[in-house]
Amino acid sequence: MTTTEPRTIKIFDTTLRDGEQSPGASMNIEEKLRLARQLQKLNVDVIEAGFPIASEGDFEAVKKIAQTIKGPEIAGLCRAGFKDIDRGWEALQYAEERGRIHTFIATSDIHMKYKLKMTPAQVLEAAVKGVKRACGYTPNVEFSCEDAVRTELKFLAEVVGAVIDAGAKVVNIPDTVGYTIPFEYFNIIKYLKDNVPNIDKAILSVHCHNDLGLSVANSIAAVQAGAGQVECTINGIGERAGNCSLEEFVMAIRTRGDILPFKTNVITEQLTPASRLLTSVTGIVVQPNKAIVGANAFAHEAGIHQHGMLMDKSTYEIMTPESVGLKASALVLGKHSGRHAFKKRLEELGHDLDDDNLNKAFERFKALADLKKEVFDEDLDAIVADEVMRVNEKFKLSHITVTCGSFAVATATVQMEIDGEQVRTAELGDGPVDATLKAIKKLSKSDARLVQYNVGSVTGGTDALGEVTVRIGQGERVVIGRGSSTDIIEASAKAYIDALNRLFFASERDIEPL
Ligand code: KIV
Ligand code: ZN
Repeated sequence: MTTTEPRTIKIFDTTLRDGEQSPGASMNIEEKLRLARQLQKLNVDVIEAGFPIASEGDFEAVKKIAQTIKGPEIAGLCRAGFKDIDRGWEALQYAEERGRIHTFIATSDIHMKYKLKMTPAQVLEAAVKGVKRACGYTPNVEFSCEDAVRTELKFLAEVVGAVIDAGAKVVNIPDTVGYTIPFEYFNIIKYLKDNVPNIDKAILSVHCHNDLGLSVANSIAAVQAGAGQVECTINGIGERAGNCSLEEFVMAIRTRGDILPFKTNVITEQLTPASRLLTSVTGIVVQPNKAIVGANAFAHEAGIHQHGMLMDKSTYEIMTPESVGLKASALVLGKHSGRHAFKKRLEELGHDLDDDNLNKAFERFKALADLKKEVFDEDLDAIVADEVMRVNEKFKLSHITVTCGSFAVATATVQMEIDGEQVRTAELGDGPVDATLKAIKKLSKSDARLVQYNVGSVTGGTDALGEVTVRIGQGERVVIGRGSSTDIIEASAKAYIDALNRLFFASERDIEPL
């Protein structure tokens, strides 16, 4: 009997670029680097680190990742114009031959007419010129036909053939608006395979958005039709309803190897740490029933299921929790735990901290362990999010005092450090949180609007860490801030200040289509 070797599908992770386009998910350089290190451990083939021309911060993040991360190729997104491509390579050059210029232009009638105001011939010319310009820097060039799914098929094939002739080594066929279904997407990829004469000179890539909840199914169908690269994000974050979820695609391929003759290079045991790290960095929590990485993904609630599991795990379990890096947690650490055990557990959770950050986190852990007997993984995630994920703070909380009660008018006195200077004020409010946020707003002179305020507890019990998430907006931009403390007023102040720092950091990203 002969068995054919499964075909390896390249995993192109775009968490740091398309993922960052999720509302409130913008990350600073330090955060992007932290995630890039985890993506390296995950062993993805390509990390799309950002959109270098979009902002100074994006440029610096791509450059830093290109300089630091070894192993995966590092891609940067550029529109097809020369200015974008030149700027892109300025950041990517540090990755040398592993630097990939990813350039794109829209090819659908809708986008060409209304967004670009260009004819198909002009778009074709711009695509070819862009790819040639990029090839002047590196042979590692990817071209994307934005809104490919809604592009007239013959024109799509013409563009794909032309950019391959111009030197593109990877051609991406995105479902930019999450519109396709598996059967249709299979046929598009198959059509290109059958009708573009030079198609064997490039890898076909797919990039699916999740507007109809079909991004993973569509990516699998595309791979069955011959695609060789899948673009995806951790936790499926991304523009609008998000992108194809990396963990779901990778585990579908691994779990259904019986009928899907493919494999990836991903080290699946690193999936859970990657998911948790992204949540810590962005504050965007995954829904409990999310496949692979949701809190309930491996929980068996119904009695009949629990009974079956006790007899044999295969009754209800199609993959093991260990295979996705879920390690039995329960109580992990207490006040007598040492620095070594603390560091080890953080590493298992995906938090690789340098000495300075480890010291900060350890100090906070000790303080927490004094207040509450049991410290859980979720507490450790919250500590890291609170102590480590904050860099370049313009605004810092120094002290807070609040008086409130059923007969008192809530009053908050807040002292903050702003650009290194101590300032203080007091405000009244219709509750302690209202008074606190008013005082911070006054001190920071911010006109941001509060879009959402949520408070929850990280674990159970009245001694639990309270965790507050706020969303604040200014113009079109909305950012998330998080804070944790055993005192929920302090957690609220921290979350609000975190959001103000993020708003300050996020520079203007709205740019022209070409
Ligand atoms: O969704 C999309 O079309 C994109 C491209 C720029 C690749 O993100
Ligand atoms: Zn996209």
